Amino acid sequence: MDFLYLELQRCPTLQRGLIPARDSRQGRRKRLATTAHHYPRSVLVTGGAGFIGSNYLLQAVKAHPETRFVNLDALTYAGQRENLAALEAGSAYTFVQGDIADLDLVTALSEEHAFDTVLHFAAESHVDRSILDPLAFVRTNVMGTATLLECARRAWNGRTDVRFHHISTDEVFGSLGPEGLFREDTAYDPRSPYSASKAGADHLVRAYHETYGLPIVISNASNNYGPFQYPEKLIPLVIQNAVAGAPVPVYGKGDNVRDWLHVGDHCSAIDRILQYAEPGSTYLVGGGEERSNLEIVRLLLKLVDQALDRPEGTSLKLIQFVTDRPGHDFRYALDGSKLATDLDWTPSRNLEEGLRETVAWYLANGTWMEQTRNRSYDEYYETQYRDRIDNPTETT
Ligand code: NAD
Ligand code: DAU
Repeated sequence: MDFLYLELQRCPTLQRGLIPARDSRQGRRKRLATTAHHYPRSVLVTGGAGFIGSNYLLQAVKAHPETRFVNLDALTYAGQRENLAALEAGSAYTFVQGDIADLDLVTALSEEHAFDTVLHFAAESHVDRSILDPLAFVRTNVMGTATLLECARRAWNGRTDVRFHHISTDEVFGSLGPEGLFREDTAYDPRSPYSASKAGADHLVRAYHETYGLPIVISNASNNYGPFQYPEKLIPLVIQNAVAGAPVPVYGKGDNVRDWLHVGDHCSAIDRILQYAEPGSTYLVGGGEERSNLEIVRLLLKLVDQALDRPEGTSLKLIQFVTDRPGHDFRYALDGSKLATDLDWTPSRNLEEGLRETVAWYLANGTWMEQTRNRSYDEYYETQYRDRIDNPTETT
């Protein structure tokens, strides 16, 4: 059973064994056999103790019983080994604490496990932290990715039955105005240390394909939400502050726009791309759910009030407009048609339902939130928000 098998049960075109696909850019119709290009058997997952990696592994280990997964994670403030405690009893999953930029370690792991797949999630991932400490981002995101690529090149030595999949972000394309969409061929224009470091990593991944023929794929996804997200990010931060009755900081006027993608949908897209995409290709993965930050915050506050049986509108007064993020990208929005037409993948979750489930998950997992926050969260929160919250730009 794999993610595709699970989707077969709800997708008649896949049940017939063919994916009909329309290449809308060239006005052609084509039919793609569902035969995978790549069957992962021994997978190095990096950063699997983080938000998206944990969600991926929890699904993938179940869906691919023949496959062995090794999770290499440094357990930075963002990594929680306990997320995957349920997998540790089984023989299909192994956890290794270590740094992706450690060439000797990654080489030794490759020799021991004969990986045929690298699924690379590990990164410093928070834009605000990249503004406070950019070099950490260059080190992990650029040097770490370069180290993994070099190990893969040496270990695979020209093999074509292998895959290096880089999990990347739509932020590499920069900032959109009110109109337009990013596409796979949009020119890179990163504007924060985080997005510049991810763009650098993408360029290296492509360079290894062009120069050495390394079979790579890249997926650039929009903003994820769902279980296990570290509470520095907007959605879990709003939920936890609302529950505590604490101020909810909204940067600028809250009119910046993001496209929200449920992490479960992102993981199913990753699984599809890893197996079915042509080597050398790139796919954008979006949720098709664009909202301004203020809309998202208001919706979340409504959902928290409903979940806690508070009178409607109780938490709205917590919104505090604060000093904006420097260089704040105005809008991200993706054209997902290549993924839809080539690989017949579209997101399955509706945003309001997905957020309702997410609020319920955080409310039911208060202990997870407490343990996660105990690490360095309070120190970070103080640095990032104290002045902002003490000096709001306006209140609602
Ligand atoms: P996260 O911050 O929650 O997790 C990152 C994980 O990487 C953590 O477990 C951390 O311990 C590990 N890590 C960090 N540095 C490491 C190192 N040097 N060696 C080994 N492990 C290390 O991140 P996330 O939100 O799960 O994002 C995963 C990937 O997806 C990232 O590459 C990110 O750029 C990309 N992405 C994220 C989103 C999003 O909305 N969260 C959207 C698009 C793309
Ligand atoms: O687009 C994909 C990217 O989405 C990923 O590559 C990143 O790893 C991920 O962190 C995310 O980046 P953003 O900067 O868009 O996400 P964040 O949750 O930090 O912020 C979402 C929006 O909310 C953004 O416009 C900034 C705003 N914001 C955020 C925080 C934390 C606030 O207004 N207040 C806040 O306190």
